[in-house]
Order: sequence, then structure tokens, then C-alpha cells
Amino acid sequence: MRVLPSILILSSILLPIGADFRPCPYMTPECRPKMLELRSLLTFDSNSTYPPVPDMYNLTKSLCQEAEHCLAHCWALEDYGKACESLGTRVHKFETECVKYALSMVYDYNPHKPECSEKYDFFTTDPLLKKKVFAEGKECFLNPFYSNPCEQELRSKYDSLMSLYLTPSEDGKYNSPYDKFQKFQCEVLLQKLDSAIADMNSKNSINATKLVEMAQRSQNCIDNTCLIKPKKTEKIGKVFNITLF
Ligand SMILES: *[C@@H]1O[C@H](CO)[C@@H](O)[C@H](O)[C@H]1NC(C)=O
Ligand SMILES: *[C@@H]1O[C@H](CO)[C@@H](O)[C@H](O)[C@H]1NC(C)=O
Ligand SMILES: *[C@@H]1O[C@H](CO)[C@@H](O)[C@H](O)[C@H]1NC(C)=O
Ligand SMILES: *[C@@H]1O[C@H](CO)[C@@H](O)[C@H](O)[C@H]1NC(C)=O
Repeated sequence: MRVLPSILILSSILLPIGADFRPCPYMTPECRPKMLELRSLLTFDSNSTYPPVPDMYNLTKSLCQEAEHCLAHCWALEDYGKACESLGTRVHKFETECVKYALSMVYDYNPHKPECSEKYDFFTTDPLLKKKVFAEGKECFLNPFYSNPCEQELRSKYDSLMSLYLTPSEDGKYNSPYDKFQKFQCEVLLQKLDSAIADMNSKNSINATKLVEMAQRSQNCIDNTCLIKPKKTEKIGKVFNITLF
């Protein structure tokens, strides 16, 4: 019985150490350990090379919900709120180096592998189709990837990553890993459009059909996410400018 108060005192001393989170002295004994756990999950996540595994993501989300009442009387709520809001869409190193890279590879590789490209559209924006494509097309997605240092790791994390990436948010907030993955897809499509334009310009040979197809595809992708500002009409305007002359 004597131990408990000293743990509480200790944890209230420990709480301010995480520089990004202000302390909250007014917490119930049920809240304090939860908020300590939330703080360490959020801190760990912000430093991690990898996105959280689904269990950890779900746990963090549910602690984030508790923060609203646990920290209701503290400024700390702002700090936790901000970190919780960006939890799903924070981009980790592994994602820029491996996940986006894999999307980019599969885009180029697919035309040379009709048994994959005819069956699986890895750039679809339809949530149900996406789930199916990435489940059934796993080997096609990982295949272009052999001899790449990411391959092993992407393969071992594939199921867990995809379960995060392919579960749309229920609250319509566009801040889940699903939305982040959709953004990766759009960014890759836009990159490919840019390089097709550059390539055609340098060869002085325009395939208008192809450019319009690519532009529409990018636009459709962007229309399905709030995470990219809709400024791409400008790019499509340019495409049409090229094609008109
Ligand atoms: C996490 O990142 C912060 C800065 O963002 C740094 O001060 C801290 O040392 C890092 N912690 C670990 C465990 O890497
Ligand atoms: C996490 O939560 C989502 C949505 O509520 C659910 O579909 C999924 O199965 C959960 N994942 C785990 C590993 O608990
Ligand atoms: C132009 O692009 C379309 C669609 O990608 C393709 O079917 C067609 O063969 C291309 N035309 C030329 C001349 O390369
Ligand atoms: C499109 O082409 C016209 C005529 O060459 C030019 O005046 C205009 O600035 C171009 N617009 C864009 C967006 O490049």
C-alpha cells in the first residue's frame, strides 16, 4: 500500500521529461499509467524507421481517445492531440525507401509481366478492389523487387503493412494509414507523369493518348485523397498545351 503513492509521485516527475509533451498534474490514478504509455508509444513512433504494427497502432489510437477525458483539464491535451492526429499519416523512413520504391518499380515492371498487369491494378482507388489486389497480387508486387535490399524486409512486413494500408478510416478524417498509402500511390503516378512528359519532350515525340491517360489517372487518384492539394489541374493544363501544338 505504501508503494503506490511513491509510484504516482515518481510518474508525475517522469511525465515532463518527454520534451514534446507538457506535463499534466491533474490526472486520476487510472489515467496516469495510460497516458505514460501513450506518451512512450507516440515518442517511439515518431523516431521509428517503421510504421507501427497493427496491434500497436490500434492500441495507440484507443489510448488517444482516452486522452480526451484524461487530459481534459490540461494544456497537454493539445500536445497529445497533435501527435495523435498525425499518427496514421506520419511517413517513416522504411516507407519512402521501400514502400514507395516498390510501387514505383511495379508500375514500370507490370507492362513486362502481363500475367500480373492484366490481373492486378496496384493503383486502383477502390478500397475493396485494393484489398483484393494487394492480397492476391502479393507475389506480383514483390516480384519486381528481387535483388533489392528492401525485398526481404518488405516481404516479412507485407501482411502487417497491408493490413494498415488497406483499412479505410471509419471517421472520414483522411488521417489513417489508408490515406497515407493512397497518397503514396498518387505521388508515384505523378512522378511517372512528370517523367513521361520530360521523356517525350526530350525525344520531341508526344503520345497525347498516353499523356491524357496518365494525367486522368493521377487526377482520379488525387480526387480520392485530401492529403494532396488539388493543384494538378495546372499540370494537366500543361499537358494539353503540349498536345495542342
Ligand atoms: C527520439 O527523437 C528525439 C528527437 O526527435 C531524440 O531526442 C531522442 O533521442 C530519440 N530517441 C531515441 C530512442 O532514438
Ligand atoms: C485494428 O482496428 C481495425 C479497425 O477498427 C480492425 O479492422 C483491425 O482488425 C484491428 N487490428 C488489430 C490487429 O487488432
Ligand atoms: C500511345 O500510347 C497509347 C496508350 O498508352 C498506346 O496504346 C499507343 O501504342 C501509343 N502510341 C504510340 C505511337 O506509341
Ligand atoms: C500554353 O501555350 C500558350 C501558347 O503557346 C502559352 O501562351 C501559355 O502560357 C501556355 N500555358 C501554359 C500553362 O503553359
